[in-house]
Amino acid sequence: MSAPRIERHRHSCPCVLKTDSEPALVVRFSVVGFVVQTRAMSSVTISPTRSASSPVKGITGHPGDTGKLSFSVSPEATRMPSDTPWILDADMTRIALIGASGQLGTDLHRQLVGEIIPIDHTALEITQPDSIRTMLDTVVPTMVVNTAAYNLVDKAESEPDTAMAVNAWGVKSLAEQCGSRGITLVHIGTDFVFGLGGAGRNTAWTEEEAPGPESVYAASKLLGEYFVRSFCPQHFVIRTCGLYGRAATKAKGNFVQTMLRLARERPEIKVVSDQRCVPSYTRDVAEIIAALITTKAYGLYHATNSGGASWYEVAREAVRLAGLTTPVTPITSAEFPAKAKRPANSWLDCHKIETVTGRTLRPWQAALAAYLQETGDLLSGVEGVI
Ligand SMILES: NC(=O)c1ccc[n+]([C@@H]2O[C@H](COP(=O)([O-])OP(=O)(O)OC[C@H]3O[C@@H](n4cnc5c(N)ncnc54)[C@H](OP(=O)(O)O)[C@@H]3O)[C@@H](O)[C@H]2O)c1
Repeated sequence: MSAPRIERHRHSCPCVLKTDSEPALVVRFSVVGFVVQTRAMSSVTISPTRSASSPVKGITGHPGDTGKLSFSVSPEATRMPSDTPWILDADMTRIALIGASGQLGTDLHRQLVGEIIPIDHTALEITQPDSIRTMLDTVVPTMVVNTAAYNLVDKAESEPDTAMAVNAWGVKSLAEQCGSRGITLVHIGTDFVFGLGGAGRNTAWTEEEAPGPESVYAASKLLGEYFVRSFCPQHFVIRTCGLYGRAATKAKGNFVQTMLRLARERPEIKVVSDQRCVPSYTRDVAEIIAALITTKAYGLYHATNSGGASWYEVAREAVRLAGLTTPVTPITSAEFPAKAKRPANSWLDCHKIETVTGRTLRPWQAALAAYLQETGDLLSGVEGVI
């Protein structure tokens, strides 16, 4: 059994643990008032005062607690408390996570470090300033992470007021209220803000480039971004792309699950091949966002898996990885008319977030294989899994 390597996170506690085995790790610690994040551990014991086993979201320590903290580490562990002696800051980040039951919100809930207060749609209506105010008064967060959005891209063309209410005006109110209270606001943007002038382009868009939305959804999301940047000085706006995650597989579905379902139901599936982007696994995006927001490097970022593909290529790879033989045929956007116009190329350049966090997200093919493995859709032994 090899010893776990512990690397102190560049910006703050806790550390990042990288391990390829399942060693037990014993850490001596002192508690000065915090919540222990236990997601990555299969069991946790704090002796002599408290103990817990998975799945637990956290254990609240009390000032003055001292003892021995024992961990059983799962192979996929990515985040662990700091090395010996373990003394964490009493001023722990208290995060209100809006959209907590959504696709990205669910993975952020697992990955964020701090005291996480999940806020779903039943607890907050972002279009209502009073609802935001009540939430902030009650939760008293030091940080708000907003993943809520109206993201029915085609429907937004016929419901522009609703899209704007959620993605623009609701976000404006949230940004104003966070800004005036000195709360850090983390907001999720979209690759769809690019498009105009992108036809024929085969390079990635950087954060410095001028956006050009081509749909109601994209325009409403861009306005939301601007409001966050204008009204809340301590902000992270993170644009991402083509999300798929486990949370969406049952309730709403996502592109990957839709393609697999169609491939099982139909003799052939046809998918557009003239829209390029980077499909991204919410688990990976959540991980890099969690790392970014422990810094004070506020600003605008892009965060996606790496590489780039057309939706046709993504569908073909998903079908192949699932061991299905259904033919996947490329078609043009003109052959599959949709109400909302979509970018021909919305590939995002992620160098900035990679530099700040010291992390790179894996290629989209590897992320897709990992996702399908988790959903049980990956054909065992399929070739080409990175
Ligand atoms: N999905 C993608 O491919 C994609 C691509 C690029 C960027 N993004 C952006 O990434 C973020 C997360 O996307 P996602 O795929 O995780 O979305 P999602 O699964 O639809 O989650 C959004 C969450 O927001 C909640 N919500 C919706 N309207 C609300 C409102 N008026 N007030 C309060 N909560 C509300 C939803 O609750 P209910 O479901 O209960 O209404 C849901 O839990 C969004 O900002 C989106 O624009 C997504």
